[in-house]
Amino acid sequence: MEFFVKSGNPEKQKTGCLIVGVFESRKLSAPAQQIDDISEGYINAIVKRGDMEGKFGQTLLLHNVPGTSCDRVLLVGCGKEREFDAIKYKKISGKVIKLLNETGATEAINTLPLLNVKGQELYSKVRFAVEAANNSLYLFEQLKSEKSETRRPLRKMTLFIESRADLAEGEKAINHACAITAGQSLTRDLANLPGNICNPTYLAKMAEDLAKEYSSLSTNILDESELKEMGAGAFVSVSQGSDQPGKLICMEYNGGEKGNKPLVFVGKGITFDTGGISLKPGAGMDEMKFDMGGAASVFGLIKAVAEMGLPINVVGVVAAAENMPSGGASRPGDVVTSLSGKTIEILNTDAEGRLVLCDALTYVEKYDPEIVIDIATLTGAVIIALGHEASGVMSNNNALANEIENASDMANDRVWRLPIWDEYHEQLKSNVADFTNLGGRPAGTITAGCFLSKFTKKYRWAHIDIAGTAWKSGADKGATGRPVPLLSQIVINRAK
Ligand code: BES
Ligand code: MN
Ligand code: ZN
Repeated sequence: MEFFVKSGNPEKQKTGCLIVGVFESRKLSAPAQQIDDISEGYINAIVKRGDMEGKFGQTLLLHNVPGTSCDRVLLVGCGKEREFDAIKYKKISGKVIKLLNETGATEAINTLPLLNVKGQELYSKVRFAVEAANNSLYLFEQLKSEKSETRRPLRKMTLFIESRADLAEGEKAINHACAITAGQSLTRDLANLPGNICNPTYLAKMAEDLAKEYSSLSTNILDESELKEMGAGAFVSVSQGSDQPGKLICMEYNGGEKGNKPLVFVGKGITFDTGGISLKPGAGMDEMKFDMGGAASVFGLIKAVAEMGLPINVVGVVAAAENMPSGGASRPGDVVTSLSGKTIEILNTDAEGRLVLCDALTYVEKYDPEIVIDIATLTGAVIIALGHEASGVMSNNNALANEIENASDMANDRVWRLPIWDEYHEQLKSNVADFTNLGGRPAGTITAGCFLSKFTKKYRWAHIDIAGTAWKSGADKGATGRPVPLLSQIVINRAK
């Protein structure tokens, strides 16, 4: 879909559909009032009849509203005016697009960005409207023999803003939003693909394809034998149980000046997690195809950053492996030597994410990073702690943690920080090796973070546990594309 920004009189436009807000109870927004004026009370009459209370999520499609040049007017209930925030705004924006896609309108004018949205400026109002539109139209149909067909899809949307002076800012917001949602769609595609298709080799090919698409990108891929030779014993201990060879996939985006330290993002890319010899229970195990959600978000971020052409250097590294039980798999109790030289007693082969990540985190020292952020579907415990609202953040640097929290607010992609205090490290003590990969039941997300922190002492680092946010279960099972908005915001803020 194409997006434009415009300022002027919405009620005077010729359009397939004009979208206007109504607040609770029956309070017309300014654009709705303008339509009411021009139509000599037509809107208010309908509202008074009780067909539109302004309740959040309510919609009413009107045809041939007198006095206007619009084929349709869509009244949208926005709830209580004082409670209209970014979350509500995004929800309603997505809903409206889905609804319009089912009508005959192929083009629309959206006046919702003219409304007051709690704490949001013009840039984010435009950006969120576009993000919500693109994300709500996402479909995963690669593997269906018959694709759904929209008879007359919405092709063009014009977003109304207050003042001409803000047009450039509005256009920037559209560009950013489209880049971010293009990245999110890639993330969702990769994560939605099943383990028999999206394996480490598939991910490596994806990196090569991206490098062909964007001249600002280059790729370097280490295969399992090179990793073994290099001494990445923790990584290999996971991958060795699978017939699919593991890969360390490195992507460099060079938008900044040569020699400027890069922002480094590392993704957990377990393309299927059976648990290994510490086999997972069968129920719901299919969802472990999403265990490469962190890797998928690194691909999405790299795509978004390349699309925006941001003037900054970014490195994306993906630790891609499959965790399988087999005659070659690691056993509980095995001791392996990581790339850092530290030895690890593998007490549970299902705590594999930290094993592939710790070697990737050691490897990225070679980039002399400005910061390193890893993204991983690391623990079921983060779902117990934060549910499906917020991703968990842990960091060895308060300024970096604050920076991530700030970007999270700006992008409307929630995180919550957890501590990784020294006392928690006690839970990783081993009688035979430097430490174990298993912290036990209490604070499972934190002890996983503590494990990683043992490998990140040479740089400013943060870890984002996305096990609760990367995908949805149930009837709408599928990848969300999170935390691509957050990661993109971190890079946008740094590139300023
Ligand atoms: N990929 C899982 C984490 C996970 C589990 C994410 C369920 C989403 C839903 C990870 O590799 C894992 O198995 N973690 C274990 C760690 C434990 C053995 C210390 C867990 O969370 O149970
Ligand atoms: Mn696991
Ligand atoms: Zn896992």
